[in-house]
Amino acid sequence: MTSHDLDGLKKAAALKAIEFVRDGMVVGLGTGSTAKHLVIALGKRVRAGMKLRGVPTSQETAALAREIGIPLLDSEDRWEIDVAIDGADQVDPGFNLIKGGGGALLKEKIVAASAKQFIVMVDHTKQVPVLGGSFPLPIEVIPFGWGSTAREIELLTNSRVTLRERNGIPFKTETGNLIVDVHIDRISQPGELETALNLIPGVVETGLFVGRTNILLVGTPQGVQTLHAPQQ
Ligand code: A5P
Repeated sequence: MTSHDLDGLKKAAALKAIEFVRDGMVVGLGTGSTAKHLVIALGKRVRAGMKLRGVPTSQETAALAREIGIPLLDSEDRWEIDVAIDGADQVDPGFNLIKGGGGALLKEKIVAASAKQFIVMVDHTKQVPVLGGSFPLPIEVIPFGWGSTAREIELLTNSRVTLRERNGIPFKTETGNLIVDVHIDRISQPGELETALNLIPGVVETGLFVGRTNILLVGTPQGVQTLHAPQQ
């Protein structure tokens, strides 16, 4: 499939996602190319009279939402988010995710954790039998001592860890931290790994989203599949 075809599948999943948004809701707005389709579609609903307020997970999403007229809550508010809707980089059969390809994983996880419901939109190529392998696991770390933090991560995972760069310089997150990408072949126990990684000093957050997804929308050439996670 071409990237254009895949983008069409992401858009189809995003259009399905807005069916879950009701008038008056507070909506967590994800980051990335799939979330962009969502925000644009929600903007059309708002212009048609729907009342909703958004909580953006990045400056990029906030800028797009403002441009198309979606009212946003302040980042310091104590949000009551009805539904958070976001993309993902990989999803396993247990609805666990790898996120953070765009580097927004920290805000994305805070918003997902604050929401009553978390809806994830993917194209079918992101479904994998086990997380890892083709997509390295992003981890946000504080700059102070990041090399030592990376070594601890290497020892824990027995995997290669690389510092993410953009245009030849270290990539900085919106919260001023760094991202290291962990090249792990198989993440067979994502919950245990997430817990162990979060115990390493210097780790701010990991791109593992375990047991958070309530509804998974998968764009396929045959249409969008709506999958409900078993009760957690
Ligand atoms: C952003 O940091 C990521 O978590 C994205 O949600 C994820 O990379 C999915 O991106 P696309 O929708 O662009 O594939």
